[in-house]
Order: sequence, then C-alpha cells, then structure tokens
Amino acid sequence: MRVGVLTGGGDCPGLNAVIRAVVRKGERDFGYEMVGILDGWSGLLDDRIMTLTVEECRGLLPRGGTIIGTSRYQPFMYDDGMARVRANLERNAIDALIVIGGEGTLSAASRVHEEGIPLVGVPKTIDNDVGGTERTFGFDTAVQIATDAIDRLHTTAESHNRVMVVEVMGRHVGHIATWAGMAGGATVTLVPEEPFDIDEVCDALTRRHGRGRYASIVVVAEGALPKKGTIEVQEPPVDQYGHKRLGGICNVVASEIEARTGFETRVTVLGHVQRGGTPTSLDRVLSTWFGVAAMEAVHDGKYGSMVAFRGGEVVTVPLADAVGSLNYTSPELLRTARTFFA
Ligand code: F6P
Repeated sequence: MRVGVLTGGGDCPGLNAVIRAVVRKGERDFGYEMVGILDGWSGLLDDRIMTLTVEECRGLLPRGGTIIGTSRYQPFMYDDGMARVRANLERNAIDALIVIGGEGTLSAASRVHEEGIPLVGVPKTIDNDVGGTERTFGFDTAVQIATDAIDRLHTTAESHNRVMVVEVMGRHVGHIATWAGMAGGATVTLVPEEPFDIDEVCDALTRRHGRGRYASIVVVAEGALPKKGTIEVQEPPVDQYGHKRLGGICNVVASEIEARTGFETRVTVLGHVQRGGTPTSLDRVLSTWFGVAAMEAVHDGKYGSMVAFRGGEVVTVPLADAVGSLNYTSPELLRTARTFFA
C-alpha cells in the first residue's frame, strides 16, 4: 500500500512530528510506502510529490514548520480540480491520503472523501478551533510563546507606566488569548466569542490605575470585535484564497484607550512568531499520538474519519462532524479569567 501525506492551511508547530509518526508507523509496522504531497492540495493538483522514509524523517520531531510545504489551495477552487486529483493519485499509485489541516483543509478533505477518495484527517491549528476535538497540536506552543511575550511586556510596561495591548492569533475563537492572558496575568482579555465594549475596557483600566497600579496588559485576539454601534472597525482585506487577512484590531483598541483614558499605550502584534519554531513537549506528544492514530485508521480502513483528542484519549470521529462546527472557548474558562480582570 502507498499512502500520501499532505499538510494544508497555515503551518503550525508539530506538523513535522505528525509526518515523522505517520511514516514510522506506516513503514515499520505495516510495511507501507509513504509519499509526501508538496504544498498541500496544490501538490496533488500539479503532481508534485516526494518519497518519505524513516531515514528521511530523522530529526523532524523538534523541527517547526512542515518539510512538505503547505498552501491554502483546494481542489474545489478549480472546475477540473477533482479530475486532476484523481489522475495524480492514480499516476502515483497512491491508495489513501492522510490530510493534516485546519477547518479549511479538513472541509475540503471531507468533500474529497465524499467524491470517493479514501482519506483520514488530522486536525492542526494554533487557534485550537477545529470542531470534534478538544485540542489541536500547535496550540500549546502558541500559548507558551504568547505567555513569554506577555511576561516580557510586564516589565517594560511597569517601567514606563504604560498600557500594553498585545494582539494574538485566533480568528474565530479566543483560546490563545484566554490561556495566554490567564497565564500572563492580563488586565483584560478580548476574544471573538464575546464582542467587547470599549467603555468597559477603559473603566477597568481606570479602576486599576486608580488603585495605584500604573501599568496594564490588554490581550486581544485578532478576531475580537467591538459591540455593534460602539466603535468603527474596517473590513479586513481578503487574500488570494478568499481568506480574510486579520490583524490590526489592537491598533483600534490602543488608540481608543489612549484617547479615552489618557494612559500612554503601546501595541505589540505577535503574529506569525506564534506559529514558528520548535513545538513544546506537549505538542510533540500530541502530534506523535495523532500521527500514529491516523496511520492506524488508514490501516483499519476508517476512511472519512479524523483523529481527535477527547477525554484524555486519541479517538477517531467522522470528518463530517468535525468540520460542521467550531471549538469555542469554554464560557466557564472565560468567566474564570474575568475574576482577574483589572
Ligand atoms: O492558522 C490559523 C491562523 O494562525 C489564524 O489565526 C490567522 O488568522 C491565520 O492563520 C493567518 O494565516 P496566514 O497569514 O498564514 O494566511
């Protein structure tokens, strides 16, 4: 049997660890041949693949990014997309696919599977927003990077009596903002799940500073939005894949804070730093567990499924269920975080 692996969407720490695990399990335990499809679905559309052996995957466990490349291209962007996918699978004698991606890549995987292609999904994203799984790999690393940054911002904020507004990733959900905000002792955290009221944010900062504290950290998820009718926010531009390019809400929040409170305010956008570099040990383990489970699912013919982390175990769930909904931040955790605001 010959199994193809592809990584789609934004990269994320732990992708290489999944590839390594898939190859190790497939080659050593099942005697399969493994190939990497280059640059996500795009490599399957244009017939670009590479062989993947245990030898070639040495040293991958701690390495960030993805050695097979990634993109946001999908077969359904083209009228002849599925025909090209079928032809290239046949030309390369690929019997099954392991598709590692976030909501966009996995939605495409679900449709490709409905077209009769045998595949298994693996959820990835630093945002941790994929439905059907409690956790995606990459999230823990991103939270650690954001927490380290917040720790550093505390000392400079205190030295200058400033408000520091830190923007983290999270287009639909506020997992990174909430976890890093709690871990870093944020004064206020703003998430996409709950539109914010800038007056409440400024009141919280004024209360805190009135108690003799002159520095604050405000953590903002890139997808956070103000309550309707409060402040104006521009529609973000859209990239070549039709994907909204977020980033910059922190500038709006910071200028409103400075104008309304008079506190000197600075912004930090963590951006792609959160996706780069080596995965944490937790993400290495989850990636490895997902990779082995995905290969086992292929071996067992569990096509149309996705590996998922639920209740402390890795299980398989139907891909269709996983892509139908998002994994939002727990309202209970958001309530707990609020105990420490201001
Ligand atoms: O992978 C998800 C994500 O990290 C989002 O939080 C972010 O909005 C997006 O990727 C940015 O991706 P890119 O700039 O690579 O298109």
